[in-house]
Amino acid sequence: MLYTFDDLAEWNGDTPLRLGVFGAPIAHSLSPQMQNAALIACDLPMRYERFHIRPDELSAAIHLARDLNFVGLNLTVPHKIAGLRCVDKLDRSALAAGALNTIVLRDGTAVGFNTDGSGFVAAVREVWSGLELKNTRVLVLGIGGAGRAIVAACATAGCDKVVVWNRTRTKIPDGLVVAESLPEAVAQADLIVNATSVGLSASDVSLIDRAMLRPEQFVYDTIYRPVVTPLLTEARAAGAKCANGFSMLLHQGARAFELWFDRAAPIDEMRRALWLAAEAA
Ligand code: ATR
Repeated sequence: MLYTFDDLAEWNGDTPLRLGVFGAPIAHSLSPQMQNAALIACDLPMRYERFHIRPDELSAAIHLARDLNFVGLNLTVPHKIAGLRCVDKLDRSALAAGALNTIVLRDGTAVGFNTDGSGFVAAVREVWSGLELKNTRVLVLGIGGAGRAIVAACATAGCDKVVVWNRTRTKIPDGLVVAESLPEAVAQADLIVNATSVGLSASDVSLIDRAMLRPEQFVYDTIYRPVVTPLLTEARAAGAKCANGFSMLLHQGARAFELWFDRAAPIDEMRRALWLAAEAA
């Protein structure tokens, strides 16, 4: 099901729906399949669904969900930064990132968290067990909601150096190391992360060309659909180590589940559900 703001406003409260993801666009989200599998595995009699919420509806939608006794929410594009102003409190994970992707609704209060950053670090550790983040020079492309969380998490993980590049330079928050030239920054990085939306459409042109990459580099694309993004096509051709955003989607979702329910997430069931959903998509 795909719901809208009007559905929330006219909610009769009878449905077992108590969790959801707000975004625009939202139809592509695989979070419902992943979170509903977790709810079933843990015998929690409630559902998680997608809501198409426009930017001008965000604040009211969060308040409605709170008043309707929702357990929690995820926010995705384009709400991760704007969401900071729509909650009652911010956890330090959201403060550090300057963005949030998870809201816990409890005792009439909306608290904002960020699980993208810790989800990214867990994903990288899972995909590349040999990559020691501590000694890694990272280049993050894109400083929207996802990029900010990844930059903050890399700093916390003790990365050797974190450099950022953004199409619109003026949007880069103060205090970050900004790439002067993209080819130079790529040459100097061990791990390159795409946190822009470039690649969501398979016809997009990669920001980085294969000639800029080397086999010893790691390339992580936060996009998971298409499975092989334009950037990963370039990275593969250069012989670099590649991963798409599937693992980050899983780990940020598992951490959100843990915040909502104060219990370990059934990560194997969530992973299986995601695989099935991605196959069917
Ligand atoms: P998310 O929450 O997924 O991070 P977002 O906050 O909307 O999404 O951020 C999107 C990112 O993709 C931004 O860094 C954006 O760059 P700008 O700040 O210049 O808008 C980046 N992006 C989108 N389209 C792009 C393009 N064609 N080339 C380069 N960067 C692009």
